[in-house]
Amino acid sequence: MSTVVRIQDLAHHVGQTVTVRGWVYNKRSSGKLLFLEVRDGSGIVQGVMAKKEVGEDLFKQIDHLTQETSLEVTGTVKPEPRAIGGYELSPVGAAKVVAVAQEGYPIALQAHGIAHLMEHRHLSMRHRKPAAILRVRAEVVRAIRDYFDSHGFLLVDSPILTPAACEGTTTLFEVQYFEDKAYLTQSGQLYQEATALAFGKTYCFGPTFRAEKSKTRRHLTEFWMVEPEVAYAGLDDVMDLAEDFLCSVVQRTLENCKEDLKVLERNTEALERVQKPFPRISYDDAVKTLQALGHPFTWGGDFGSPDETALSEKYDRPVMVHRYPAEVKAFYMKKDPQNPELAMCVDVLAPEGVGEIIGGGQRADSLEYLEKKVAEHRLPPESVAWYLDLRRYGSVPHAGFGLGIERTVAWIAGTEHVRETIPFPRMLYKIYP
Ligand code: 4AD
Ligand code: MG
Repeated sequence: MSTVVRIQDLAHHVGQTVTVRGWVYNKRSSGKLLFLEVRDGSGIVQGVMAKKEVGEDLFKQIDHLTQETSLEVTGTVKPEPRAIGGYELSPVGAAKVVAVAQEGYPIALQAHGIAHLMEHRHLSMRHRKPAAILRVRAEVVRAIRDYFDSHGFLLVDSPILTPAACEGTTTLFEVQYFEDKAYLTQSGQLYQEATALAFGKTYCFGPTFRAEKSKTRRHLTEFWMVEPEVAYAGLDDVMDLAEDFLCSVVQRTLENCKEDLKVLERNTEALERVQKPFPRISYDDAVKTLQALGHPFTWGGDFGSPDETALSEKYDRPVMVHRYPAEVKAFYMKKDPQNPELAMCVDVLAPEGVGEIIGGGQRADSLEYLEKKVAEHRLPPESVAWYLDLRRYGSVPHAGFGLGIERTVAWIAGTEHVRETIPFPRMLYKIYP
């Protein structure tokens, strides 16, 4: 028995005879020589099998294998710059089939339409591009955790089942909670405010849910959000944090996902430009910019997807738009002391037409003001009583933000639609597979 090696580690075994355990990805044959591409989840390697070495029977068996048949192949590791991944198993001396895949595997190696790939997501994630995007996602998540863990933030997760809305009542998923109703969380923020006042700097990282009736390339009904929250911080502090954090995540992914970004044909120069400082523009200026671009936008509304696309195309790095009209923003936002029509909030729009990836800002810290807001928004007082306690007992200025993982991965990986950035997307009327 030779050593079992993962394809990503072949470089450390040059000249040795090793075994790769995986699945048939592709093959081509000249009758005497067989070129067999095997994937094992960490990469793809080409094995070269000669009929005169392995014998007629094994050669014929392997030559007839169907795509996605699972097998173990044993061969000698050889550098081969022209081969996929840079190494070959040459020659392959032995192969053992584990399970022959049935005829009719639904994903051919030629391009399929995205609808077909999403319908077969449980299989299509075995293929190069979908797999590369999910690897980028894993690196983005690691980079996010490492950033906060090494900058004094404590991970304190928020609950998923909640008694009240955070981001407005129109996008709530309701669930039966014994004799009562509960809701899937839209954001961990309100709880994060409690943890920040307990620990100073915290973050939560988990799935969030919105019954979005939007059918755009930016909307999922289940998505992941990371939400840092900082006590004794204001709007400028979270803008500084967002900027530093995003630079770090992008740099890390550029360093550690070179191969995947190549498979995705991502223009990495655009990502290399993601350096401090990011432009900071007020909502007022953003509106003027849109109007100058010929967008029929009037002051007072929230930006729609086309507005965000137009704005973010103007800059070569993320742009931070701050101080939106308080009217269009959530109940917990602090008003601008200079102009009570405005909220002390910020949206970060990623470049290249991607649009909003971060929403956040400074939170209202006055008890009287929040009591008024809770009444205006008709939030059930008993379900937010605990939240108001945070203003009763040692209220301080505090601020934070939420970053959507899927939109961020879509930006970094250069993927058009967020559905490809989460393993099993949930969207309007779509919950299969
Ligand atoms: O701007 P949002 O709604 O902000 C909040 O929820 C705040 N409570 C966060 C905070 O301050 N702690 O959402 C934050 C981010 C958006 O910028 C976007 O990236 C992502 O979450 N997001 C979605 N991603 C995919 N599908 C959806 N339906 C999304 N809704 C928001
Ligand atoms: Mg937002």
